[in-house]
Amino acid sequence: MMKALQGIKVLDFTHVQSGPTCTQLLAWFGADVIKVERPGVGDATRQQLVDVDGADSLYFTMLNHNKRSIELNSKNETGKQILTRLIETCDVLVENFAPGALDRMGFTWERIQEINPRLIMASIKGFGPGKYQDCKVYENVAQCAGGSASTTGFRDGPPLVTGAQIGDSGTGLHLCLGIVTALFHREKSGRGQKVTAAMQDSVLNLARVKLRDQQRLAAGPLKEYSQFGEGIPFGDATPRAGNDSGGGQPGRILRCKGWEQDPNAYTYFIIQAAVWEKVCDIIGEPDWKTKEGYAKPPQRLDKLNEIFERIEKWTMTKTKFEVMDACNPLDIPVGPILSMKEIAEDEGLYATGTLVKVDHPERGEYISVGCPIKLSDSPADVQRSPLLGEHTTEILTDVLGYSAEELAQIIESGAVGAAK
Ligand code: COA
Repeated sequence: MMKALQGIKVLDFTHVQSGPTCTQLLAWFGADVIKVERPGVGDATRQQLVDVDGADSLYFTMLNHNKRSIELNSKNETGKQILTRLIETCDVLVENFAPGALDRMGFTWERIQEINPRLIMASIKGFGPGKYQDCKVYENVAQCAGGSASTTGFRDGPPLVTGAQIGDSGTGLHLCLGIVTALFHREKSGRGQKVTAAMQDSVLNLARVKLRDQQRLAAGPLKEYSQFGEGIPFGDATPRAGNDSGGGQPGRILRCKGWEQDPNAYTYFIIQAAVWEKVCDIIGEPDWKTKEGYAKPPQRLDKLNEIFERIEKWTMTKTKFEVMDACNPLDIPVGPILSMKEIAEDEGLYATGTLVKVDHPERGEYISVGCPIKLSDSPADVQRSPLLGEHTTEILTDVLGYSAEELAQIIESGAVGAAK
């Protein structure tokens, strides 16, 4: 079966997490992704958080599936010539270096357009143009600068970052959409273009409901926040809302049977208006269906603590899975808090390809996420990540057409390290 992006060549100049997330998606969709790495060093994550001595880390392997790796010194003259050939040959260049690094190598956007006007050049930076444009940025900086941290956590505690990597992987996803859109545009225009995604912007895009609430504050207190029912006044900025739902249907995380020992014996419970009567019946408060102050959603907003405490009395008599089994048939939306251990052991996720087991020559079998986006005519088939420089010779000869003699000269120049 032909893959959706088959025939598209990507010069992958990315490192760490944000850029590699994007190019891994392109590779899963069938693009030929050529990862350019510094000779002898490679992507820094190969050697970060190492759990198996002498093997590429899980951090690296889980972000670089289905790619080929070429070692290439982009600051060496021969290396620059090879890079120029790669730019001529490829459809897309993706990079997430610190601001200005590509320019310092001599590959400005103007120069790249001269080399290949059809090339799409895609970049991730921490910030867009403006006062912070030159900053180096990592995940948690973006979560803080994008408005997520100030709105995450509990009102009486400090700002919190989330475990989901919305700054890195979130921006990689945004960039990937930009690239595919630019490829589509190129079909009509015949030209490449520059695609940029700033991590601050991507986090803000994902945190937009909190910007919504910022504006709603002008019209009065945010009544769906627990703090409203607690009588605590709102300040002038969207507050942290603990586990309150971010939408119009109130929700909370509630304890379930076993919570004293198991840190994940909890469920998320949503009192969607449409199923309020069923909630009342299941928890044993049938009177609340008609009682003044409880029957209608707006009346309940100042009683959320009381209501959820009562529901929790019921959830604490059941495991999180029993809560799910009891509520699902009634269409009451609930979600067990699943630990990573429980997720890694979920056979259903392997059946759909959401989780995969991958074999690796240095580290043996490991678990990874598969492609979360399923295309019926272009299924992602997860291949292990490349060893450093594993495809250097193959790319120089098969992709760029260098002869054996030229290859020897290239190796002699020090541009590619010891080609494999
Ligand atoms: N050959 C030779 N030199 C290479 C090379 C290669 N193949 N690949 C990279 N380099 C050089 C770069 O040219 C740069 O050199 P310079 O500073 O002398 O111009 C240098 O390696 C380091 O690049 P840099 O991007 O500054 O790496 P860093 O480790 O110092 O910073 C980040 C890492 C992530 C903070 C930074 O890249 C960044 O802010 N990126 C944009 C935002 C981003 O994506 N952040 C999230 C990462 S998950």
